[in-house]
Amino acid sequence: MKNATKFAHIGRPKIGVGTSVNPPIVRASTLLFDKADDLYNGGHRIYGRHGSPVHDALSEAFCALENGAGATLTPSGLSANTLSILANIKAGDHILVTDSSYGPIRNFCNTQLTKFGVEIEYYPPGIGAGISALIRDNTSCILLESPGSLSMEIQDLPAIVKRAKQHKITTIVDNTWSAGLVYAPLDMGADVVVHAATKFFSGHSDVLFGAVVSRTKSMANKVAKTAAAFGNSTSPDDAYQILRGFRTVVTRFEQQEKSAISLAEWLQSHAKVSKIVHPAFASHPNHDLWQRDFTGSSCLFSIVLKPCAESEVLALLDRLEIFAKGFSFGGFESLVIHCDPQLNRDHDPKFGGPLVRIACGLEDIDDMKNDWRQALTDLILLKSGA
Ligand SMILES: Cc1ncc(COP(=O)(O)O)c(C=O)c1O
Repeated sequence: MKNATKFAHIGRPKIGVGTSVNPPIVRASTLLFDKADDLYNGGHRIYGRHGSPVHDALSEAFCALENGAGATLTPSGLSANTLSILANIKAGDHILVTDSSYGPIRNFCNTQLTKFGVEIEYYPPGIGAGISALIRDNTSCILLESPGSLSMEIQDLPAIVKRAKQHKITTIVDNTWSAGLVYAPLDMGADVVVHAATKFFSGHSDVLFGAVVSRTKSMANKVAKTAAAFGNSTSPDDAYQILRGFRTVVTRFEQQEKSAISLAEWLQSHAKVSKIVHPAFASHPNHDLWQRDFTGSSCLFSIVLKPCAESEVLALLDRLEIFAKGFSFGGFESLVIHCDPQLNRDHDPKFGGPLVRIACGLEDIDDMKNDWRQALTDLILLKSGA
């Protein structure tokens, strides 16, 4: 069954008489039992933090999305990342984190994990099989994000997974960019996939949510137990919204992917744009990996402007009317950010000009192009870049 069909139906109640289309929202912290034996020995869910019917339906949807054995729902994409790391490390470990990883994950590693004597090493995202040289006896996890959500490097996941498996190291992949629709890390042997469901699954930029999906039952249990120990829980209202997002995610994703390709093609030939950083374009340095491992692209890509002053980049962003300035993607509305202030890297990706990230929403593509046309017109380049 194709994804669009699967997600229109998954997790819905069995149809009887007047059945609601989706599972109902059940709000409860306390769950009541009329028999003590059921409370203590029934093997039932016994407290609100342990979930509800809509949480079960949503977990089922995330497992189906990623071909996983179990899913744990989290209050945000960041907490999905931190949970998956915490479930797989102990004091004194060494972990390898892609240098292109989402900034707040880097912050978590540098400010929190270090308190417990965990050593963090950032590796260049193009490392591939070269990861072997960085593996130590105490390396427990490799954290990947492919593509990097600002600089768009695609990683050689099979090569990294192969080396990780030789050393019994857990591989964790942030798969938010692809919404799990065009990239399948668990099928390529990764152990854990993480989603910021805040993006495509919310789809409306008004819910924060995350999911950790595991390839094996034992990993799923480990993540679930860690989540329970930390008191991780999510509201049934938010879970409902994310399940609702599943119903339409394929159509929205494909429309946004198409707009991003069309806008990138248009920007590619603009005199003030130096290059497009989009993995589906032949000019992307990891285009071959994208062709091998992905079945499509996403709403999110970056461009490099011809050299210009920082103030000119900010003025360009201000002139855009449809593309609002905001730190996200995957919602119905188009967004833009200047990446340079956030490119906090150990290994400088060197773009040779200001890097600007573009997230296409669901607006009309002609209006998107017109917005960029008018905003780029007044961009003043440095003399050397003109
Ligand atoms: C790739 C990636 N992972 C994780 C997150 C964090 O998600 P959340 O905002 O839901 O915490 C983001 C947010 O921008 C992201 O882009």
